[in-house]
Amino acid sequence: MSLDTKPNIDWDSLGFNVTETKSMFRSTCAIGEKWSGGDLIPYSDISLSPFAGVLNYGQGVFEGVKAFRSSKGNVVLFRADMNGKRMAFSTRRICMPEMDPDFFVDAVIKTVKDNIDYVPPYGRGSLYIRPVVWGTAPILGVSPTSEYTFMVIVSPVGPYFKEGIKPLNLKVNTDYHRAAPKGIGNAKAIGNYSASLFPLMEAKAEGFDENIYLDAKDEKFVEELGSANVFIYKDGVLKTPALNGSILGGITRQSVCQVASDILGITVKETEITVDDLLSAEEVFCTGTAVVVTPVGRITYQGKTTEINQNQMGPIAKKIREMLVGIQREEIEDPFGWVLPVN
Ligand code: PLP
Ligand code: COI
Repeated sequence: MSLDTKPNIDWDSLGFNVTETKSMFRSTCAIGEKWSGGDLIPYSDISLSPFAGVLNYGQGVFEGVKAFRSSKGNVVLFRADMNGKRMAFSTRRICMPEMDPDFFVDAVIKTVKDNIDYVPPYGRGSLYIRPVVWGTAPILGVSPTSEYTFMVIVSPVGPYFKEGIKPLNLKVNTDYHRAAPKGIGNAKAIGNYSASLFPLMEAKAEGFDENIYLDAKDEKFVEELGSANVFIYKDGVLKTPALNGSILGGITRQSVCQVASDILGITVKETEITVDDLLSAEEVFCTGTAVVVTPVGRITYQGKTTEINQNQMGPIAKKIREMLVGIQREEIEDPFGWVLPVN
């Protein structure tokens, strides 16, 4: 495709897959220096030393942000500043030059603006933004490498789960852990995702959509899915597992807590959640940039399946989803200053 023709994309058949776009942002930083500069370059494959730190020792972190076309005709980013802060935490944790959140947001904005034709029409998906930081210099001994590459790559996307917001069929996984106490579960490190691939493939082969992981110490408390946080609702109280060091602090999770308590007046608790709490909930749903707010309809634990809310999306999940999506698309007044127009 020539760079000055509009992309020919069937917006209604987008799933959560890669569609190549016009450009990507790239910047490099040596260890001990600060992130600065960087350019937009045509989207293409990249070349990398086979000894790169990211390839051999998993020195890589990433983020997920979305841009939407709004009801006001804007292209907006949702809480990218929070992704910048989490990227600062993740880079520090994996011994990379700490990302500056303002530098991060600026690079995200530049990339979205340059790829604006790839932001799906209002109500028909979003532009998924994937900022990554990789250790790209060669290294042989186990050690942080000497140079890092920050890239912002983007792709128009539709729903993460192929059946959209149909309630999920999940398995409480008692064979594998996603993350360990005092490990890197609270950083958006690539290693967390390689750890979850095998259990995910097993769960899918058994007919499940995803796993719910338990805490690795006692195998008693619910942590999260491989790709999203989890909430339960019962007796007027909305609960999500407290951030214990091995759970990823989701930006959607924090937004859902705030929408539920400040707008909907629901009591919200960040607390320990047992498997019994999970299975006896009136509603269960998961949250994330990719999954938004997706209901959970069936949960299997130790071979026994429990149906949640008759395998239907419950009223609380529905209200919260509508409110969140409404704010993201500028259909509802944004009382929190979460939405940033970039056009
Ligand atoms: N937990 C994991 C393991 C994730 O990969 C994600 C996705 O980013 C989340 C939770 C949700 O985080 P957020 O709402 O910031 O997208
Ligand atoms: C996101 O929701 O942005 C994620 O990063 C989850 C998954 C696609 C890895």
